[in-house]
Amino acid sequence: MAKLGVNIDHIATLREVRKTRYPDPVEAAKIIENLGASSIVCHLREDRRHIQDNDIFHIKKVLNIPLNLEMAAREEIRTIALNVRPDTVTLVPERRQELTTEGGLNVIHDQTHLRKFIKPLREVGIHVSMFIEPDLDQIQASQDIGADVIEIHTGTYAQSLTRVDQERELDKIVQAAEYTYSCGLFIAAGHGLHYENTSVLKQKCPLIEEYNIGHAIIARAVFLGLERAVKDMKEIVR
Ligand code: PXP
Repeated sequence: MAKLGVNIDHIATLREVRKTRYPDPVEAAKIIENLGASSIVCHLREDRRHIQDNDIFHIKKVLNIPLNLEMAAREEIRTIALNVRPDTVTLVPERRQELTTEGGLNVIHDQTHLRKFIKPLREVGIHVSMFIEPDLDQIQASQDIGADVIEIHTGTYAQSLTRVDQERELDKIVQAAEYTYSCGLFIAAGHGLHYENTSVLKQKCPLIEEYNIGHAIIARAVFLGLERAVKDMKEIVR
């Protein structure tokens, strides 16, 4: 049974767009926990466009399920992570102008920095996940620097427009999952996943142990409510 991590960034997006006090991501996290999600995922971006520092502290305080904090490999955010102590930190690339995370980390290129960066996190017992393209060399480099988890970036798969492209991307993900499994690392996947493409991915790649999904779930919740949105996705990944 694969796990479902629900990313609640876009609850905070809705709040920040008007600078109101609602909708509250802390409340959303508790509702989603009660609906049976396996973890809550939040991305504390350098530009604080959605989730804010206080949100992370409060969410960690009230949650009984694991918190997965996505962040860029920057010292300022690491200091916050070391104070909050999420169960997992997922390192992602970040560019200010992007609409959302584009592409995976280049662990091969940034090996020296990343190795040093993750050490204090792992020393206090935080699991470290690398958000990378389905690329075997990137997986190997992640294992070499001491990562615990590989989150396979599914964005290219999600955006593929033709059947042929989709199949090619699925094959890459399957190979990446098999390689990650052989390395003994935990296998997560996420980005751009919605109700249809998750269903296809799940059938093709049973090795994936955790799906981290946000936008599609929050979008469905607008029409059907969080309960239906989370339950429908839970059924697909399980
Ligand atoms: N996983 C990671 C590492 C991400 O950066 C994101 C987006 O913040 C997601 C999963 C969720 O992506 P989406 O909102 O497209 O489902």
